[in-house]
Amino acid sequence: MKIEPASAIVGHVAVPGDKSISHRAVLIGALCDGETRVRGFGRAGDTQASVNAARALGAEVEDVADDELVVRGGELRSATVDCENAGTLIRLLTGIVAGREGRFELTGDASLSSRPMERVAEPLRRMGARIETVDGHAPLVVEGSPLHAIDYELPVASAQVKSAVLLAGLTAEGATTVVEPVPTRDHTELMLEAAGVRVRRRATSVTVEPAATLRLGEVDVPGDFSSAAPLLVAAALVPGSDVTVHGVGLNPRRIGLLAVLERMGVRVAVFNRHRAGREPVGDVQVQHCELSATELDTKEVPLLVDELPLVALLAASAHGETIIRGAAELRVKESDRIEAVTDLLRACGAHVTSRPDGWTIRGVPTRLRGGRVDARGDHRIAMLGAVAGLASREGVEVEDAQTVSISFPGFYDLLDSLVRR
Ligand code: S3P
Repeated sequence: MKIEPASAIVGHVAVPGDKSISHRAVLIGALCDGETRVRGFGRAGDTQASVNAARALGAEVEDVADDELVVRGGELRSATVDCENAGTLIRLLTGIVAGREGRFELTGDASLSSRPMERVAEPLRRMGARIETVDGHAPLVVEGSPLHAIDYELPVASAQVKSAVLLAGLTAEGATTVVEPVPTRDHTELMLEAAGVRVRRRATSVTVEPAATLRLGEVDVPGDFSSAAPLLVAAALVPGSDVTVHGVGLNPRRIGLLAVLERMGVRVAVFNRHRAGREPVGDVQVQHCELSATELDTKEVPLLVDELPLVALLAASAHGETIIRGAAELRVKESDRIEAVTDLLRACGAHVTSRPDGWTIRGVPTRLRGGRVDARGDHRIAMLGAVAGLASREGVEVEDAQTVSISFPGFYDLLDSLVRR
């Protein structure tokens, strides 16, 4: 697909429901007594895999609308579950089933089967779980067994690993604590609290008590900040742009990009702050400004982990040299995002070198030339290519562009509605 240059990106839009929260609503809903109504569900490839997983495990999931469903939970039963491309699904589910009766086989596509799973298997085994991996990778076989609580210090800042341990803690004997090197997204903690679980949250750790019954009732899913991000970054890059995304999740552990945009000189405004359940929500407006370079390191990375490719693109058109460190985790996402971004930006004419844990980017404050890029089956890389195309002189041809449907099936149409040519 060829993305032509835009003369400006202007308008007001809303984006589909948050992917992280949608996964959790379905999976935790499957553990609840009675009905959980999920409004604003972000229907996409990944979240549909969670719906299919919940059904395979015996929950009833009724599709009320594209963005609304009702989950009727109960006892889980033995199953083989295809987690497709979804890292959040396979890791959270491993924690969920570890302490429940049955045999669970969790598989995934080629990308998911190349991603590290020992990081969840190892702490869960310490709790007494029986988990087999294939050299640390999916397929995983979990034989449900009685668990005991642990205090676990995460070796990598990962919300998926934290969530797996906390969800296993629901069926463990005693109180389970996870200590984080740097705070990561806390949607699991917030939703478990809403479901009636005793959760103690501190700045860098969280403790859950076991819970025999959970009840969510209703979940209102805010717009996905990570889906708003490409639109906001396009507005920041293209002169004359002014974009507002309405009803987007503003969980402080997700919106690191806004602080980085401001540091780079972009005008950011947030309006209509309110809450959807325990999650903060609001409208975010971004207007184009001249960009200046910045630096980023380990402490900030989890707050914008999925937006770092977009920051690299911003940096390519900023005054000065940007250094992004502490982001080695990007090498084990849906693709090796450090190399994917380096190749993409270079193909478009940017001056980028990869580091083991990020990039060094020498910005040139003008539009990139454009070129031909490959999304490599990675939705965030496809979206990056599209934004690069809008902000380029000659446009960008994106191979494998449809892979955006993993998180945001309507991405190109929504983007198109904002583009002035
Ligand atoms: C997610 C956590 C992050 C993020 C992913 C979604 C989640 O992964 O990159 O897109 O929903 O918990 P890690 O936990 O591997 O950092």
